[in-house]
Amino acid sequence: MRKPPHNPHDLGRHDLDDILGTIDEEVRQRFGEGKVADYIPSLADVPRDRFGIALALPDGAVHEAGHSRERFSIQSVSKVYTLTLALEAIGEELWKRVDREPSGDPFNSLVQLEYEKGIPRNPFMNAGALISADVILSNFEDAEATLLAFMRARSGNPDVGTDEVVARSERESGYRNVAVANFIRSFGNMDNDVQDVLDFYYLQCSLRMDCVDLARSVRYLADAGHCASSDVQVTTAEGATRINSLMMTAGTYDAAGDFAFYVGLPAKSGVGGGIVAVVPHVMGLSVWSPGLDEKGNSLLGRYALHRFTRMTGLSVF
Ligand code: DON
Repeated sequence: MRKPPHNPHDLGRHDLDDILGTIDEEVRQRFGEGKVADYIPSLADVPRDRFGIALALPDGAVHEAGHSRERFSIQSVSKVYTLTLALEAIGEELWKRVDREPSGDPFNSLVQLEYEKGIPRNPFMNAGALISADVILSNFEDAEATLLAFMRARSGNPDVGTDEVVARSERESGYRNVAVANFIRSFGNMDNDVQDVLDFYYLQCSLRMDCVDLARSVRYLADAGHCASSDVQVTTAEGATRINSLMMTAGTYDAAGDFAFYVGLPAKSGVGGGIVAVVPHVMGLSVWSPGLDEKGNSLLGRYALHRFTRMTGLSVF
């Protein structure tokens, strides 16, 4: 008789706790690799010998290993959620103001903005995230409260909050973001006051969450837009598919090709060392380790995701 085909989506064939435990052990051997983000002064002191991993399934189950309950600054991981809110607010109109192409340039690059007339390449570069921030400020009465409520509902954790020290540190040192925002505004692609948009952006980047919070928060993208933490349809199934495709092509900036090559999952990174990833229709994932590679993505986080997809066969490829 022929053997049934290998189906990695049948999770019953994996011992998920064993797999996460093995990855945790492997990563610990490599502690010290990578460099913490020091261009935001308050992130420079975070120790590098940290690693957490968590996955959240649509049925509510969570598996985790390592420092999965230690909070960190989620930084650009927040761009997934602000994109979701901006799409909820203005839908297709958003694509008149931001493109959907990978940039091949660093996350804080300005260069394409000039010849592309203030239209950022994608919603995950800093430039693109400033458009989402502008849209949220224009369309929700209290942008900060809306974002906090969104993150608490998605994670199921009412204690999720922001870190004023990190936000201030970035406000005082964010010369590049000031330049990007002003440049966009000069092309007429920003409606709100530049400083208000930047302040909201720094606030979203300063959200503090742990791997379990983040795995649960991204799970709606693995479940056709349905959030199991709050039993709310956050976006449509088509919306989730689209956000996942953008994460695949642009979520890790100029390393998106390498992420597809080594990991093979839609993912969004942050310079705090966190990464969220999605196995479409199967699970939300989060890893954290503060040492970054030269592109600003968690070096050991990427390694962990690589090992995860290779051990489970869950790469989308
Ligand atoms: O705007 C910045 O530079 C940071 N608040 C966020 C950048 C970031 O997380 C890039 N991701 N890897």
